[in-house]
Amino acid sequence: MKLKILVGTMTSTAHYVAQAIQMDCADLVSDIEVCLLDGLDIRVLDEDALYLICTSTYGSGDVPDNARVLYDSLDTQPKYLGQVRYGVIALGDRTYLQTFCFGGKKMDERLQGLGAQRVGEVWCHDASAGTLAETEGTAWCRDWLAQALSMV
Ligand SMILES: Cc1cc2nc3c(=O)[nH]c(=O)nc-3n(C[C@H](O)[C@H](O)[C@H](O)COP(=O)(O)O)c2cc1C
Repeated sequence: MKLKILVGTMTSTAHYVAQAIQMDCADLVSDIEVCLLDGLDIRVLDEDALYLICTSTYGSGDVPDNARVLYDSLDTQPKYLGQVRYGVIALGDRTYLQTFCFGGKKMDERLQGLGAQRVGEVWCHDASAGTLAETEGTAWCRDWLAQALSMV
């Protein structure tokens, strides 16, 4: 089973998290692709793979600019995604009380709306907590992968 990590980012933290997972989890999944969203649309979910959405939050609770086309296409080019299994790493900052991690949460909402199957809960990282998203994210991902791979 291939793991495809879809990265939505403004200042690269989510990309670093994805790259850390790619290195750290190679013993669990042999094929891990890190894919910057950069304008990709719903067709990025066409491949037979396990997906991990790894995205930050910007503006007033929006997805980052490079994830905007995917997010919009889940609404404007909808199709049934029942074959898609995915997890979510949502990066945010609790000082944005009203919109904490909304980028990942909004993406999750749209995927669920199209029938995609989320494995586990949305995992949120709080940039104001002083912990490293790369370290915590890889630890979370190892547990998540164990769960996801046991369901194959
Ligand atoms: C201008 C700006 C707006 C932000 N808005 C939010 C927000 O609404 N909610 C949230 O949880 N975090 C928000 N954040 C925090 C980022 O999502 C967080 O720092 C994240 O780790 C950045 O990841 P990135 O480098 O991959 O983009 C904001 C950060 C900036 C600089």
